[in-house]
Amino acid sequence: MSDLFTPLTLRETEIPNRVMVSPMCQYSCDGDGLATDWHHVHLGSRAVGGAGIVMTEAAAVDSVGRISPQDLGIWSQEHADALAPTVEFVREQGSVPAIQLAHAGRKAATHRPFADESGPVHGTEGWTPVGPTDVPYPHDDPHEVDALDQAGIEAVIEDFRRAAELSLDAGFEIAEVHGAHGYLLHEFYSPVTNTREDDYGGDYAGRTRLIREVTAAVREVWPDDRPVFVRLSATDWLPDRESWTVDDTVRLSADLKEVGADLVDVSGGGIHPDQRIPGTGAHYQVPYAERVRSEADVRTGAVGKITTPEGADEVVRNGRADLAILAREHLRDPYFTLHAAKELDRMEAVTVPGQYERGI
Ligand SMILES: Cc1cc2nc3c(=O)[nH]c(=O)nc-3n(C[C@H](O)[C@H](O)[C@H](O)COP(=O)(O)O)c2cc1C
Repeated sequence: MSDLFTPLTLRETEIPNRVMVSPMCQYSCDGDGLATDWHHVHLGSRAVGGAGIVMTEAAAVDSVGRISPQDLGIWSQEHADALAPTVEFVREQGSVPAIQLAHAGRKAATHRPFADESGPVHGTEGWTPVGPTDVPYPHDDPHEVDALDQAGIEAVIEDFRRAAELSLDAGFEIAEVHGAHGYLLHEFYSPVTNTREDDYGGDYAGRTRLIREVTAAVREVWPDDRPVFVRLSATDWLPDRESWTVDDTVRLSADLKEVGADLVDVSGGGIHPDQRIPGTGAHYQVPYAERVRSEADVRTGAVGKITTPEGADEVVRNGRADLAILAREHLRDPYFTLHAAKELDRMEAVTVPGQYERGI
């Protein structure tokens, strides 16, 4: 039986334990998408804290795909070079460095959460987002959106492929395709936002074509011995209209496994502000990960209000998911994994940095 401190080998990448730092935007670049000292300290401390996988925030594969002007990017050699020392530091601590490859679609070009203003960024700092159609996300003061044509879609696939190559160059061992939270790839697979009538719209096969092709493109350039993850929104949480459901997610997860995804990171929602989440208590999304794991026969990560060592351990121990993915708890406690090892009496399973040994 596996528990939180059982290593996991995916392809030939050994992950020392089952804790993953969930991707979390830091909105801390200077408008050019280049990693800064903030990223080095933020990601570096969570590696010192013992997490098995330290994943970056959503890194935009193209400048148009940034959620905010301060987002991290991975669209040029300069971006890879800026990340490389952090990747190396994370690896030196024994964590597996991972990057989330993202395109914000129609939800791009908004103010970062801790800015004085909220909503879309207009004017010279902003830009025109792209989406499956020209319908904007229902902000109060929305941008115009450019509907992607065939050439635009092909360019997006190439952007993801190039971003994966650059990530490899920076030293990352896991690439995650961000297909959740109402951003571009989710906008294509959800019937709420994709009303196209061409080969990238219509039925399930048409709407999921883009995420399948993007995942295949990333897999093509990602080495055979390293894993590719995909993050999905398991449901749109819009039961009263035609929308994306957990059944669809099970089907898509199996299809993504076919094109080379090694693990599905199961999240939820984000496609429309009308969404109604039935509950946001502890482990509220774990049942989705559990269904995907058993019905699609694919490895999963569970995320959403996992906050305690016992809770994270339970998720893995009972086979609900292969990884316990924690976001906000890692903001409160960068050393979550070391604290969990102490609490669960598994200190022999973690490496405490020599510099910190006297504090144990
Ligand atoms: C500050 C912050 C930034 C986030 N940025 C991202 C992101 O870049 N990519 C992503 O897929 N999810 C992002 N999320 C969502 C988290 O990864 C996670 O799915 C969500 O917070 C639920 O997990 P939690 O209850 O452990 O916080 C973000 C969440 C927070 C709190």
